Amino acid sequence: MDLSVTYMGLKIANPIIVGSSGLTSTVDGIKHLEESGAAAVVLKSLFEEEILFEISRASGEGAVVNNYGEAAEYIRYYVREENVSNYLKLIENAKKTVAIPVIASINCVSAGEWVNFAKSIESAGADALELNIFIMPSDPRITSEAIERRYFDIIAGIRTHVKIPLALKIGYHFSGMAYFLTSLSSSGIQGLVLFNRFVSPDVDLKTLSLTAMPVYSASIELAHSLRWIGILAGRVKCDLAASTGVHDGLSLAKVLLVGASCAQIATAIYKNGAKYIEVMLDDLRTWMASHSFRSISDFRGKVSFKNIEDPIHYEQAQFMKYFSHHGKWMA
Ligand SMILES: Cc1cc2nc3c(=O)[nH]c(=O)nc-3n(C[C@H](O)[C@H](O)[C@H](O)COP(=O)(O)O)c2cc1C
Repeated sequence: MDLSVTYMGLKIANPIIVGSSGLTSTVDGIKHLEESGAAAVVLKSLFEEEILFEISRASGEGAVVNNYGEAAEYIRYYVREENVSNYLKLIENAKKTVAIPVIASINCVSAGEWVNFAKSIESAGADALELNIFIMPSDPRITSEAIERRYFDIIAGIRTHVKIPLALKIGYHFSGMAYFLTSLSSSGIQGLVLFNRFVSPDVDLKTLSLTAMPVYSASIELAHSLRWIGILAGRVKCDLAASTGVHDGLSLAKVLLVGASCAQIATAIYKNGAKYIEVMLDDLRTWMASHSFRSISDFRGKVSFKNIEDPIHYEQAQFMKYFSHHGKWMA
């Protein structure tokens, strides 16, 4: 059975990529993931602030204060000075140690001078670069157009500096989703990763304070990726990778069926260990055998919006539509 797939022009042995996380922040961790069956890894994100800090440091301590004012102390507080060079070393050493593709990741929010730095990532040997962009739309003075423009500006800025494939990893807080993602797909990227999962607020009822939800996903969260990958597959000009809620071999089969090229996983490995990759692949093989599929291309995209006769469930959001469509009404 052939599980190989192509993602952003990279031919990988199977559709499981370990997503950007602490799992991929050391060479030993990456080697262990490769030995356990991961087809590729996305490195833990380097933050735009870290790169900006490095640039400012190189041009004198004062520049940091001038550029960031009050933020300077905060940046100093959490950025260890050698972070940026360590990141480049991580790419170089990972490339020397493993044969699977190593995808670097930058968490960014603006297109500034820092985008030059992408060249160093390419020179260090990264096979591709994932841009992890999230601009929290929490400022009531900033329009959605202005926020969306920034995504295009960042991609355009980075694209002028690197030739390696670029992926964009985003959240799902956009109003004109299909239009926005389709436009992004022809803006110089080769992959869209749907979706990143962000830390969400919670409230502690005992202490009456604000806390954060758990960092690990629940399997029900797969629904967002299923819907949007299914709607966009074959209609965007780049590959699609699923992220969030792919917890087992059968959910992997589902994201491939709706049209993903691969899945990026994190929670499943945090919870079950790297050996779980083989369990997922075995379950995928068993399911494929039950349908007499011999390769991923035999079924990838079969259940996408574009390829099915009645895609109502992709667009259905409210119960009334569902019940009326089936000739039944809610009691
Ligand atoms: C501990 C932890 C650290 C993460 N760090 C990053 C990161 O640096 N950059 C990023 O793009 N995503 C990061 N993620 C998000 C994951 O890559 C992934 O998108 C998310 O966990 C959803 O996938 P899952 O359901 O398989 O966990 C992190 C996730 C976890 C659990």
